[in-house]
Amino acid sequence: MTTNVILLGPPGAGKGTQAKTLSERTSLTHVASGDLFRAALREGTELGMLAKAYMDRGELVPNEVVIGMILERIAQPDCASGVIFDGFPRTREQAVALESSLAKQNSTIAAVLYLRVPNEVLLRRIAGRQTCKTCGATYNIYYFPSHRPGICDACGGRLYQRSDDSMETAQHRLDVYFEQTMPLIEYYQRQGNLFEIDGQQEISWVTDAMLKALGKYLVTSAQPKE
Ligand code: AP5
Ligand code: MG
Repeated sequence: MTTNVILLGPPGAGKGTQAKTLSERTSLTHVASGDLFRAALREGTELGMLAKAYMDRGELVPNEVVIGMILERIAQPDCASGVIFDGFPRTREQAVALESSLAKQNSTIAAVLYLRVPNEVLLRRIAGRQTCKTCGATYNIYYFPSHRPGICDACGGRLYQRSDDSMETAQHRLDVYFEQTMPLIEYYQRQGNLFEIDGQQEISWVTDAMLKALGKYLVTSAQPKE
């Protein structure tokens, strides 16, 4: 049985930041729907062009498109020992599709880590976010800027601001989250596998809280990477 974990939370909650670290510290593979769309867009594929139209408006990409993309991704060999889902599922239909696909492989969602962060903090985090084009590391001009402006500390790559991080689009992404994704909190609460984490704390505190919540699953099925 593999360990699969969902990071649930609003835009700017820290899902990508935490998923990257967790994947480095466990054998789980980071699968981020937004990153897959952005990669498809960079490659100029049809999927990327289709997703862009929705992402630029802060709307969700249609369920069937996202579900198809994610199920294809998790069928890859590097996902066999377990996945950290970041940004997926975002609707009930996506959650049900994921569950039934995992069930066919005799697998389940071990835990859902819900990052709770107040709205005003989210908007500031989004406005200040900078992401490395090369390695995906994230910085924040308000909280922890890179040492050299516009350059990644980790790999020297160029930092960019996401096109959907304008205040107007970010606010709309939040509205969409409240309407379409927040009901998943109750959905997973009822399944008994939801852990609420205070996402307002420092990044390393949040990572430790997540590792603690995942403890019993990681001990049995995930070993730290070399
Ligand atoms: P996606 O890329 O998933 O964006 P999102 O959900 O809006 O989330 P973000 O990436 O903005 O936030 P995050 O939680 O990852 O925060 P981060 O770690 O970067 O989706 C983009 C679009 O793609 C969607 O709008 C939609 O169109 C489409 N899409 C994707 N998935 C879809 C799906 N399943 N269905 C349909 N459509 C889909 O952190 C944010 C900032 O805060 C950074 O600067 C970071 O350094 C900083 N920070 C993080 N943690 C802390 C902390 N503890 N303290 C201080 N600062 C912190
Ligand atoms: Mg993200």
